[in-house]
Amino acid sequence: MISLGYYSQHTLYFLLENDIFGYFEVYCGNLSRKCLNVSELHFLKWRFYQNLWAKKGMRLIMSKEIFDFYDKTNLKSYNLDERMRYQLNMLDSLDVFTRKHCENVANLTCRLCEYLHCTKGFTEYCTICAYLHDIGKMFIPPAILQKPSKLTEEEYEIMKTHTTIGYEMCMKDLKLRPYAAGALYHHEALNGSGYPNGLTKKDIPYEGQIIRVADEYDAIVSKRQYKTHIGISDTLQILIENTKPTGETNPSIALNEISENAKLGKDNPIIVKCLFKVVIDDIGYEITCTQSYLEDLKDNIKRLEQAKKYKEKMDKASKEKDKNYYLEGIKIFLKQDETVENFEAVYEEYQEAYKKRKTIIDNLYDEIKKIKHLKL
Ligand SMILES: [Fe+2]
Repeated sequence: MISLGYYSQHTLYFLLENDIFGYFEVYCGNLSRKCLNVSELHFLKWRFYQNLWAKKGMRLIMSKEIFDFYDKTNLKSYNLDERMRYQLNMLDSLDVFTRKHCENVANLTCRLCEYLHCTKGFTEYCTICAYLHDIGKMFIPPAILQKPSKLTEEEYEIMKTHTTIGYEMCMKDLKLRPYAAGALYHHEALNGSGYPNGLTKKDIPYEGQIIRVADEYDAIVSKRQYKTHIGISDTLQILIENTKPTGETNPSIALNEISENAKLGKDNPIIVKCLFKVVIDDIGYEITCTQSYLEDLKDNIKRLEQAKKYKEKMDKASKEKDKNYYLEGIKIFLKQDETVENFEAVYEEYQEAYKKRKTIIDNLYDEIKKIKHLKL
């Protein structure tokens, strides 16, 4: 697959009452696009249902969103790069949630590296570190890992050990050893308030700083369960706060460092700024997908407007012959499953769906504006 220029393959299964009734296979030729994001998933699903429904002669009921099976969609991705296959197989030992998180963080890390103008070699290295950053979580008890409420102090201390456990796991394995930095440094904060070692900016490798930003962003996004980028600027606002000095310092730091660190926040602002660019790209992609859907709706609305014109003429006609003529005219504009009796209701549904998507697009453009006004 690599010889054909593909870095990864995704299989997207569509489930209906636990039966797989179809799947998509997506091949990615770009190293930075390892995972599908939410808008890409939506786009693929829309395309899929459009084809499926059309084949079955069924009508899409847009306004009722009956085809939004987001929660029942199962995404499995395989990395086909030989050099990474071993490292990524390690992810199979993680729970589904952590695995997906690692994939998302790797995706973001890779794209951040591109905006940070890192070399191809460093970008690849950093991406693998990101895939492995939470590998130590396989030894954290599920009761703590999956606890929905806030962790107690004691539980938090156990949770924190995933950094050192991950590091040790990597160091014991020759193939993982080069990528141990992701696990060890991704919770270190520039001002020394992070863990496990409370290091400060000069001692935290760049890969650790990048993965930290990607990690925080994905953690908030998955917690809030965003299905669209509307409102995403609030999440970025949280990250901005994390670039500001907090007054927290590590007491073990030498005095001359304290004044220097007092100016620092937890996150590196240059990396957070690049994250804005990545998010704007994603919003742009969501707009393109929604726009393409909107065009399709517009075509259907125009088609049914023609049918409506014939319907008006038919209602006004007094002669039976004319009525039949206009009736045939209506039928020309109807698709399978649409009838003379129901097409006006279908028209309303298309209109409703169009309005809804139009508002989404407007809101997404607003979101880009908001992000561009955010100050770091
Ligand atoms: Fe972590």
